[in-house]
Amino acid sequence: MGESVRIEIEGKTYELPLIIGSEGEKAIDINELRKKTGLITYDPGFGNTGSCKSAITFMDGEKGILRYRGIPIEELAEYSTFKETAYLLINGRLPNRAELNQFSVLLNDHSLVHEDMQLFYQNFPRASHPMGILSSMVNATRSFYPELQTAEEEINITVTRLLAKVRTMAAMSYKISRGHKVVYPRSDLAYCANFLNMMFDSPVKPYVIDEDVVRALEVFWILHADHEQNCSTSAVRVVGSGKVNLYAAISAGIAALWGPLHGGANQAVIEMLTDVHASGYKVSRLIERAKEKQDPFRMMGFGHRVYKTYDPRAKIIKGMCHKLLNKLHMKDPLLDLAMELEEIAMRDDFFKENNLYPNVDFYSGIVLRAIGFPSNMFTVLFAIGRLPGWIAQWKESLDDPDWRLSRPRQIYIGSVLNHYVPVDKRK
Ligand code: CMC
Repeated sequence: MGESVRIEIEGKTYELPLIIGSEGEKAIDINELRKKTGLITYDPGFGNTGSCKSAITFMDGEKGILRYRGIPIEELAEYSTFKETAYLLINGRLPNRAELNQFSVLLNDHSLVHEDMQLFYQNFPRASHPMGILSSMVNATRSFYPELQTAEEEINITVTRLLAKVRTMAAMSYKISRGHKVVYPRSDLAYCANFLNMMFDSPVKPYVIDEDVVRALEVFWILHADHEQNCSTSAVRVVGSGKVNLYAAISAGIAALWGPLHGGANQAVIEMLTDVHASGYKVSRLIERAKEKQDPFRMMGFGHRVYKTYDPRAKIIKGMCHKLLNKLHMKDPLLDLAMELEEIAMRDDFFKENNLYPNVDFYSGIVLRAIGFPSNMFTVLFAIGRLPGWIAQWKESLDDPDWRLSRPRQIYIGSVLNHYVPVDKRK
């Protein structure tokens, strides 16, 4: 018998099991709560709810720790590649040389997108947001490449297809939105360089691959690759729990990521800074607005549900921002504004009391702008980065012995029994 806790409800004592994670995190197992007590729990936003057991990512929001499969994010950002990190998340360990080569071959083999899918792109209105397009295209992929979902080997093919094709689809959406010719993937280029080439190569101006730019994108993607049970990952797990196909579950994840409180914050930060820059508005005014109770404005790129200290990803990306701009001999006035804003916020009592620190989205847009991405592609880049995490979490849920269809309960606060009134008798 493991550890348990006792709770007292209306004079009766109940014993509930205690679950202890590998890092010592404790949770009360309330599986039997309703059966034993007739009560349910109420937790809007699920801030106190563990929805699953997971061996993928560890976060300590108080200490600012993030690890994938036990490896600190700082080490992965320094030494790993996105491809290798994706393998690590999905398969549970780093690949050896032969496995990595085999993974590269598969990603290359599956990188083309069915030519008929180009017709879909042509028919989206030009002003469509690329996140809406990407979510639709990933869902549509199921019709072109029926899912293989029984043996481990078959699942791996579906997973590799997604990893390879989502990158191609994202670049296609950009090219088509600009009315430019689609650039096909190249077998001689590695994952990140291949994507950059599909985005920026053109018949009139061949794209020159710069290793510093490739590394910056590589690190951006590594930092975004997983973040345990965040909004979009939970969407993938919840939608996947109905046993829908993987493409549909990932499409739901992309839709969830789009929101400005989640992945869409990277675009919102740049728009906020651009507005300030263009209007000559003082940065301190933004701080004041963030504090005003009546004002719905939130400081984009600040705050996090789990981190109550500096987001470790933001630290890395901030350093990378300076490094990349220096290497490219670029100056971005938005970086100066962002640093001024951070400095004032870090001294402000409201920000201190609410533990509002810059999150991963605060500086990432400046890196992406320097590479040449338009701001409406920022969240698409986040989605490509998060894809291995979504896949790993979906795969983990397939093998979870505690798996159940996701179906929360509610506290009903509507009318009590109320009878139907024929239309002519209504007031
Ligand atoms: N600006 C101003 N006030 C804020 C902010 C902010 N960015 N974030 C939180 N607060 C205030 C909030 O108003 C509340 O104050 P009060 O208690 O007086 O009502 C207090 O801080 C606690 O906030 P909360 O809403 O309970 O915190 P949460 O855990 O629900 O919200 C968040 C987390 C990320 C939604 C929120 O911090 C936010 O809206 N941030 C801006 C959007 C953003 O940058 N999102 C990216 C998150 S990181 C990338 C990712 O994982 O997707």
